[in-house]
Amino acid sequence: MNKEMSETLVRTGPGTPMGNLMRRYWVPVLQSSEIAEPDGPQVRVQILGEKLLAFRDTSGCAGLINEFCSHRGVSLYFGRNEEGGIRCAYHGLKFDLSGQCVDVPSAPQVCSRMSIKAYPCIERGGIVWAYMGPADKKPAPPEVEWCNLPPSHVYVSRRLQECNYLQAMEGGIDTSHVSYVHRYEVDIDPMHQGTKANDYIKADGNVIFDIEKTPFGLTLFGRRNGEPDSYYWRVTQWLFPWFTLIPPFGDHALGGHVWVPIDEYHCWAWSINFHPNKSLSAEERRDMERGKGIHVEYEPGTFRPKANKDNDYLIDRVAQKDKRAYSGVFGFSMQDASLQESMGPIQDHEAERLLPTDKAIVMARRMLHEAALGLEQGIEPLALDASAQRVRAAGVLLERSANPTDWAKEHLADGINQSVYSV
Ligand code: FES
Ligand SMILES: [Fe+2]
Repeated sequence: MNKEMSETLVRTGPGTPMGNLMRRYWVPVLQSSEIAEPDGPQVRVQILGEKLLAFRDTSGCAGLINEFCSHRGVSLYFGRNEEGGIRCAYHGLKFDLSGQCVDVPSAPQVCSRMSIKAYPCIERGGIVWAYMGPADKKPAPPEVEWCNLPPSHVYVSRRLQECNYLQAMEGGIDTSHVSYVHRYEVDIDPMHQGTKANDYIKADGNVIFDIEKTPFGLTLFGRRNGEPDSYYWRVTQWLFPWFTLIPPFGDHALGGHVWVPIDEYHCWAWSINFHPNKSLSAEERRDMERGKGIHVEYEPGTFRPKANKDNDYLIDRVAQKDKRAYSGVFGFSMQDASLQESMGPIQDHEAERLLPTDKAIVMARRMLHEAALGLEQGIEPLALDASAQRVRAAGVLLERSANPTDWAKEHLADGINQSVYSV
C-alpha cells in the first residue's frame, strides 16, 4: 500500500478524512456495566484521538462529554457526578449529558457560554455507543445481530491493543491465518474444541477466497477441502467500517469483533460471543470471564492484557516445541495481538508484499480509502443503512460443484432469521 493511502487510513483524529468517515457511524465506547449506577463514578475513555468522559446521570442515561472543564481545563474525572450532571471539583461549574453548562456559581450570567463538547449515546448489546459526527447525519442504531439480543444471550469484553486499528482489524478480516497461529489452540479451547471445523481448518492450510462486495461491506467465502466429495466453506462478513464476524465452530457460541481506534497507536478490540436463540450457559460465561475463547485475562484493574508486549506475551517456547501453542503464545486474541503489535505501532505498509489470501484486506482498504476521500467531496459513505447489517457468519460443507454465493443467497439473506449453519 502506498504512503498516501496508508496515511489516510491510519489517521483517525478529529478533522482527518478517515476520522470524519468513522464519525458518521455509531462508535462503541465502553461497556454499560462500567457505568452501571446512576450518579456512579465517571470513566475516562479515549476514542478517535479525543479524550472523553463517560458517565450515567441521575436519570440513568449514559453520556459522553469532553474530559476537560471549559473554565481552566481541569479533568472532570475528578468532578462530582450528581443531580443530573458532572460538577467540576475546582470552581464548581456543572455540565449535563448534552455538555451544556448548567451552573457557574461565581458568574451565572456567563453560563450559556461555558458549554463543552458532548456526543449523544445509545446502549445496545451491553455497550454504550456514541455518535461523534454532524448532528443532522446521525444514522439509525446498529443492527448487527448481537446488538439486539437479550443480555442473557451475549457476552462482551474490550481489550486494549497497542497498535493501529487497521492492522488489528485486518486480522479479523483475514481468516487464512487460523490454520497457522490458532492451529493448536482450537483443540484445547473450551469454546472451539471438538468440532469438524477444526479438522478441516488444520487439514487444509491453503484457503482460497471468493469475495463479494455487499451493501454492508464484504462477504468472504473461504474454501478448504472438506470430505472427499465436498468443500468446507467458511463465510465471514466485514461490516463497514469496523465490525468483523467469525465463522462458527460446531454448536459453540458465535463470535465477532469491533475494532475502534483510540489514537494512531492504540485501539479497542471488542470481542463478542452470542447465541442467537438461547442463553449462554453458566459454564460458557465462566470460561469467557476467565479469558478463554476470544477473550483475555487482564492486568488487574485495567483493560491491558496480562500477556502483553512487555513480557513477550508470556511466550512459552516449550509449548511451541511440543505443539501446544503454534507461536508459543496462548489465547486466540493474544496470538493475533502479539503478531499484530510486533509489526510496530503502525505497520510499514510500503514494505509489505501481499499474497493472494490478502485479497479481502486489499478490498477493505480500498473501500475505506474511497469512502474517506469521497466524503471530503461530499459523497455520502456506504453502509449507513443499519438493516443491511442483519447478517450472520456460517460454516458449511457443500458439494464440490456448488456455488457458495448461490447457497448464501438462499440461506444467508437476512441471516439472523435463519438457522445457524455450522460444522
Ligand atoms: S476549572 Fe473547572 S470550574 Fe474552574
Ligand atoms: Fe485470529
